[in-house]
Amino acid sequence: MTEVVHEAHQPKAATRWWRDAVIYQVYVRSFADGDGDGVGDLVGARGRLGYLADLGVDAVWLTPFYTSPMADFGYDVADYRDVDPVFGTLADARALIDDAHAYGMRVIIDVVPNHTSDRHAWFAAAVQAGPGAPERGRYIFRPGRGASGELPPNDWESVFGGPAWTRLPDGEWYLHLFDHRQPDLNWDSPEVHEEFTAILRFWLDLGVDGFRVDVAHGMVKAPGLPDIGTAGQVELLGTAVLPYFDQEGVHEIHRGWRRLLDSYEGERIGVAEAWAPTQERLARYVRPDELHQAFNFHFLKAPWDAAVMRVVIDESIATVSPVGAPSTWVLSNHDVKRHVTRYGGGEAGVRRARAAALLMLALPGSAYVYQGEELGLPEVLDLPDEVCRDPQRLRAPGDGRDGCRVPIPWAHAEPPFGFGPPGVADTWLPMPRSWAPLTVEAQAGDPGSTLSLYRAALRLRRGHAALGDGTMRWHGSPPGTLVFGRGEDFVCTVNMTGEPVELPRPGDLLLASAPVAQRGRSVVLAADSAAWWAAGRA
Ligand code: GLC
Repeated sequence: MTEVVHEAHQPKAATRWWRDAVIYQVYVRSFADGDGDGVGDLVGARGRLGYLADLGVDAVWLTPFYTSPMADFGYDVADYRDVDPVFGTLADARALIDDAHAYGMRVIIDVVPNHTSDRHAWFAAAVQAGPGAPERGRYIFRPGRGASGELPPNDWESVFGGPAWTRLPDGEWYLHLFDHRQPDLNWDSPEVHEEFTAILRFWLDLGVDGFRVDVAHGMVKAPGLPDIGTAGQVELLGTAVLPYFDQEGVHEIHRGWRRLLDSYEGERIGVAEAWAPTQERLARYVRPDELHQAFNFHFLKAPWDAAVMRVVIDESIATVSPVGAPSTWVLSNHDVKRHVTRYGGGEAGVRRARAAALLMLALPGSAYVYQGEELGLPEVLDLPDEVCRDPQRLRAPGDGRDGCRVPIPWAHAEPPFGFGPPGVADTWLPMPRSWAPLTVEAQAGDPGSTLSLYRAALRLRRGHAALGDGTMRWHGSPPGTLVFGRGEDFVCTVNMTGEPVELPRPGDLLLASAPVAQRGRSVVLAADSAAWWAAGRA
C-alpha cells in the first residue's frame, strides 16, 4: 500500500489538553431548560453535565449567556460581566463552572469583542453624547456621504445583508458588520482594549478555561475605511481579503490576550472564530504567541466526496503544522445547517453523518461536537415563518439559522421531549414530533443508535494512545474511500460512495458506523460508512 505521511505534524504532547480535546458546544438557549420558560438556561445545562461527562467529552463551550436584548440571541452583549435573567444568574454560572470541573470537564465561554449590543451602556452614552463627543470614540461613527450626508460613509455590507451602516437622527452613521443592534467597537481606542482585558480577567478569575473569540478576524478595520467597490459582499466572506476582516492589526490583539491567558494557571485557551480567505491566513491566528486553536471551517464546508475531503484534510494539517498548532475539526455549529441535512438528509444523511463522526474523531487534533449531532439530529427545515427569529433570516430572507437551533429532545414521546421541567408546554422554537425516536432516552439503551456510536467512539478515542494529537498517514485505497493510519496500530476506513467497497482487512474491528461484512482476508464496507480498526492483527 502507498503511504503518505504528514511528517511535519507535532508529536503527541500529553499535558497540553487542548491539543486533542473533544469540545462540546452548548447553545445555551436550546440545550436544557431549568426554569420552565421554554428557553434553555444555565441551571438546565448544569443539570445535564452528567450526560456530557458520560458522553465522554473533555470540555464544554457555552455560547453567550451575558445580559442581552437577544437581537442576535446573546451575540449582542449589553453587560459582559453579568448573566441575562433568561439564562440565570452569575451564581448559576459559577456553579456550572465548578460542577463541570468536578466532572473533570473544562469550560470555555464565548467572548464577543467585535461589537456590543446597542443597549450596552457605552452605546447608549455615545448616542446621547452626540457627534464629536469622546463617547463616540469607542464605536465607529462617521458623517455620511452625499449633499446632506444622506448616503452611508462607504459601501460596506452587513454579514446579515443590507448596508453595514445605520444613521442616527442627529445625522451621523455608525458601523455594524452584523445587525444594526450590534454596533462595531473601535479597537483603535485604548479604552476598548482595557475594557476587554478586564472582562477576560473577570471570567478567568471565575474559573473559565478559555474563550471562543467571536469574529476574531473582525475587530480591526483598514485605515480610512475604504470602499470595496462591489456589491454582494456576503459572497466574498471567507474567500477574499476585505477591509473589515482579517486585517493585520487583529493579531496584535490576540498576542496581548495570549499573554493574559498564559499569566493564569492551568492552560487557559483562546479559540478563534476566524473566517480567513485561505488556510494559510487562518494559520496566522494560531501562531505560538497567538490563540491556541481556530475553527476549521474548510472541513465543515467540504462536500461528501472522498477526493475533496482528502485535500481539505491534507491542507488543514499542512497549514497549521508549521506554526505548531493542532488542527481542529468541526461538522456543525449554531450558524450552519446541520450536517445530516448538508450531506443529503434522510437515511443517507444519517449514514454519512455517522461515518463523518468516526472520520472526524480519528483525525489528529481537537474536535468540536455541536449539541444534538450525537443524536443524529437533522436541520428542521419546515419551521413556519412566524416562529423564525434569527436576525440573519429577517435581514436576508432565506434558510436562516433557526433550523439548527431547535431545542434538544431529551425524553418522552411528545414535544417538548423533556426539554424543561414536567408540565411545560412550548419551547422557544417548536420541536418536530418526528424526533420521538431521536431523544436521548430513546437512544441511550440502543447499541445501534447514533448516541451509542458517539459514546463508544469517545471512549475509544480517550483510551487509545494513537488517537487525538499526533500524526496520520494515508494508505492507498479505492476511489471514493479514505483509509489512514494513526500510530502503529490504528486504521480508519471511510467509504464515501453509495456502494459497498471491498478492501483487504486492516485488522480487528474496533467500531463501525454500519455493519461490516468480513470475508476471509477482505472486508466489505457498507455504503457511506466508516470503521476503526486495531491494525496489524489481521
Ligand atoms: C458569530 C456567531 C454568530 C453571530 C455572529 C455575530 O459568527 O457564531 O452566531 O451571529 O458572530 O456576533
